[in-house]
Amino acid sequence: MSALSPAKPKSTVPSTPSLPACGHKPRAYTGPSAEEVLATRKQFLNPGIFLYYKKPLMLVEGHMQYVWDETGKRYLDGLGGIVTISVGHCHPHVIEAARKQNELLQHSTTIYLHPNIAEYAQKLASKMPGDLKVCYFVNSGSEANDLALLMARAYTGNYDVIALRNAYHGGNAGTMGVTAHGTWKFNVPHSFGVHHAVVPDPYRGPYGRNDSEAGKKYAADVKQLIDFATSGQVAGFVAESIQGVGGVVVFPDGYLKHVYEHVRAAGGVCIADEVQSGFGRTGTHFWGFETQGVIPDIVTMAKGIGNGCPLAAVVTTPQIASVLTKRIHFNTFGGNPVVSAMGKAVLEVIEREKLQENSLKVGGYILAGLEKLKSKYNLIGDVRGRGLMLGIELVKDRTTKEPAKAECAAVLEAARDMGLLLGKGGLQGSIIRFAPPMCINKADADFMLEVFDRAFAAL
Ligand SMILES: Cc1ncc(COP(=O)(O)O)c(C=O)c1O
Repeated sequence: MSALSPAKPKSTVPSTPSLPACGHKPRAYTGPSAEEVLATRKQFLNPGIFLYYKKPLMLVEGHMQYVWDETGKRYLDGLGGIVTISVGHCHPHVIEAARKQNELLQHSTTIYLHPNIAEYAQKLASKMPGDLKVCYFVNSGSEANDLALLMARAYTGNYDVIALRNAYHGGNAGTMGVTAHGTWKFNVPHSFGVHHAVVPDPYRGPYGRNDSEAGKKYAADVKQLIDFATSGQVAGFVAESIQGVGGVVVFPDGYLKHVYEHVRAAGGVCIADEVQSGFGRTGTHFWGFETQGVIPDIVTMAKGIGNGCPLAAVVTTPQIASVLTKRIHFNTFGGNPVVSAMGKAVLEVIEREKLQENSLKVGGYILAGLEKLKSKYNLIGDVRGRGLMLGIELVKDRTTKEPAKAECAAVLEAARDMGLLLGKGGLQGSIIRFAPPMCINKADADFMLEVFDRAFAAL
């Protein structure tokens, strides 16, 4: 059944479409039950972590775009481990690179020479435009953004930073300040010198998609913040190239170009957070910022960079990097031989398997299918995204745009039952997020569209 099929009669239990065929046979699972794991987790793990789904899902195996639970049930991984599985679960080339290096030398640090980190940095730099040629390796996106903020402040000698509302840049002390979702902000002192500009959201903001000047108009708010809230001199500006956690908010054309002009005129540098939008996921470009026609001064990366290993990076210009030589900058695990081998293998797979091109093709196909679903279900207020970074914003009413939080959770539950894992985003958790491994194909896309159709019809 296609996304255009007539609406089905209401039913609380949607029938199940078939997942595309898969040759991988999962191993028999012999570990503790999901109930036992849940009990152990409740007793010994941080109580702040949360689970998706009423009946928690336990995943024990993965192969490319699919994952299996302990019962052997297969799922299409539509969220890719929160936008982290870029080239496919346990991709053989990445696993082989890790295996080979693990057998030789698991760890050494940058106080010794090792070919992997050097070769990997060279390869990563070759993917960057302009003068962005100096790599720093760390272990997480939060660390990468923290380092980028330090660089901006050290290089410019200024302190104030402009970030965007609805942004997520991490959860450590520094990045909690630039993150702008109350849900992640603890009631402790943070955000010194950080000013949050209006989010350029074409769906909810004052300037919509039909306003060709929207980018320039939203950027004017950054200029106002600089003029009203700072000395006129800023350290920099940081933004995700497409907001991920905030619900796949794609900025209007020209937004970053105008913002970068305002920020640079105030002495600041421009930081692009490519933790979710990088590595070909947007389809048309390797980096999300390229879709806006800008070249940042500092780029941060994590998640998809390592396809699941703890690898993250900051890439900047030699000029900015030279400032950090005034003190020692060191990171014990950053770019160790194993993660460097894996990061290099990820880049090789993206190139060899043309995954950026695949993101464009399959992502475009899904987006077209979602548009058709939007014309069928009033609950869908907006569909958006680029390549394989897509979002569906659910609203109770298309005029008031009241977020449909419970309905979003219900769609996620129904999709899980049918074998599709999805994410949710936005401050209210009312936006379905879809960011699968970039190796998914048209059959997966058809399956996904059918799952959506059935899940929406059952609401
Ligand atoms: C855009 C963005 N930046 C930074 C981070 C923080 O990354 P990490 O969780 O690896 O610290 C995230 C995590 O979701 C993210 O989505």
